[in-house]
Amino acid sequence: MKPLIVCFSQTGKTKKMCGCMAKSLDADFVELKEISRRGLIGAYTLGVYDAIRRKSGDVLPVDTDISAYDCLIVATPVWAGNITPAINDFIREYDLSGKTVYGFITHAGGAGEAAQLLRHELEQAGAVCPNVLDVQSKRELIYDIKAERKAFYLTADGKLALRNQDGEKKE
Ligand SMILES: Cc1cc2nc3c(=O)[nH]c(=O)nc-3n(C[C@H](O)[C@H](O)[C@H](O)COP(=O)(O)O)c2cc1C
Repeated sequence: MKPLIVCFSQTGKTKKMCGCMAKSLDADFVELKEISRRGLIGAYTLGVYDAIRRKSGDVLPVDTDISAYDCLIVATPVWAGNITPAINDFIREYDLSGKTVYGFITHAGGAGEAAQLLRHELEQAGAVCPNVLDVQSKRELIYDIKAERKAFYLTADGKLALRNQDGEKKE
């Protein structure tokens, strides 16, 4: 059965990469939207405050039956070294117990503890998390992914990874 990619994206980079990931992995895709949508100033002020305090930012109900998927990929940008309130809300609101859930985080070079935090949240929710893939969302990398010079894939030992056309290097 297909995996489901659940993505939150404030400025569109994570969403672009997840769109390509959906194609590479033949996965379904759903984007999370917060009930009170934040602008960029809101993200850098209250958003960061909430992220640091590991708060949930209420998301609109997902128009997809999560219970129908055994395997998910949960994707979020990094905010102040943390995962976003929207992704916290999704993980806490939906029943992920017993599911295989990969993490995917994007950042500008300072991921802090975000990968470990995402894994922790997923495991607290009863999911099995094989790995959290983190990438620095540089423009060139996004071009390479869109042009299929780099692609997301699942390794033989079941990890989410990103490879070059000519090898299995991450970026
Ligand atoms: C509110 C806010 C806080 C951020 N904090 C960090 C950070 O702590 N470390 C980092 O490397 N990038 C940080 N960034 C950059 C984003 O994580 C990065 O650009 C990400 O790929 C954006 O994804 P998006 O376009 O899907 O929202 C932050 C961006 C925003 C908007």
